[in-house]
Amino acid sequence: MVFNMNKLINIQLSEDENAVIILDQRLLPSKTEYLRLSTADEMYDAIKYLKIRGAPAIGIFAAYAMYVLSKSPQRTLSEYGDYLKSSRPTAVNLQWAVERMLKAENLREECHAIHREDIAMCKAISENGLSLIKDGEAVLTHCNAGPLATSQYGTGLGPLILGSERGMHFKAYVDETRPLLQGARITALELMNAGVDVTLICDNMAGEVMKAGKVNAVFTGCDRVAANGDTANKIGTCGVAVLAKHYRVPFYVFCPSSTIDSSCSSGADIVIEERDTSEIIDLYFKEPVAPLGVKCCNPSFDVTPAELITAIVTEKGIINPARLL
Ligand code: MRU
Repeated sequence: MVFNMNKLINIQLSEDENAVIILDQRLLPSKTEYLRLSTADEMYDAIKYLKIRGAPAIGIFAAYAMYVLSKSPQRTLSEYGDYLKSSRPTAVNLQWAVERMLKAENLREECHAIHREDIAMCKAISENGLSLIKDGEAVLTHCNAGPLATSQYGTGLGPLILGSERGMHFKAYVDETRPLLQGARITALELMNAGVDVTLICDNMAGEVMKAGKVNAVFTGCDRVAANGDTANKIGTCGVAVLAKHYRVPFYVFCPSSTIDSSCSSGADIVIEERDTSEIIDLYFKEPVAPLGVKCCNPSFDVTPAELITAIVTEKGIINPARLL
């Protein structure tokens, strides 16, 4: 591996401040290519098609995008904000960052502050999470909640990366995370770079790994937490939580406290994004893996009920999901 993922910049303002530059996450792990985005349509597409992805990273990107767009008089800032917010519905961070930018007096300072705060939050989340595992232990992960989904360290992967920096040795069983393979393409890459002992598994192998006693805990990120502690995260997370309960493996969810959305009383209020069915059939395959025209259902997220979550780890501490607010 040639780069340190934790130092790799995934989002930045261009030097002339007329564009946002992002690492195109669709191409990982084969290519590291940067994109320069200066129009509202390019920015909308970047979020919609997961060129930039991961709830906190989408929020940071949207903040820089709002600053850049504030210099283009074709639409009002609030119209640009509504347009960006309509790109993906589930992660609260996108709405949160847009609303924060709309209230800001100094947009330039605010987008940099959102980015700086995320770096500090991820470090604090990682420190808190590190207290949940011992040197030599193994964790199962789902989707990607590492540096590329945030700013640095990540949320769910942060404890493993921080611990590795301090000379600790962890193992990770990484769910590949169909259909967009964020686990295989990005989590495996980030953790291998950090020196974690990574074993990649297909999503349907998580139960077998738990049954064999190979993992001490499950660590995932999340996209929105309802007031009652239900959490939305990448499709398949709820299934992993059910398995973890059955096999008595602690199930931890990691996020900045801004991911807690008190306007959602329960998970039933969280809008789940439905994505194009081509993602299941042919996006990451040379040839279609199912008959073209077959009916598919492709929800991008699911909701894990609070009762399946051992604790939610934020920058503020390790919280019982039943006592969030
Ligand atoms: O569709 P994605 O790749 O944006 O989904 C990402 C996840 O579900 C992550 O687990 C979540 O956003 C937390 S990222 C720290």
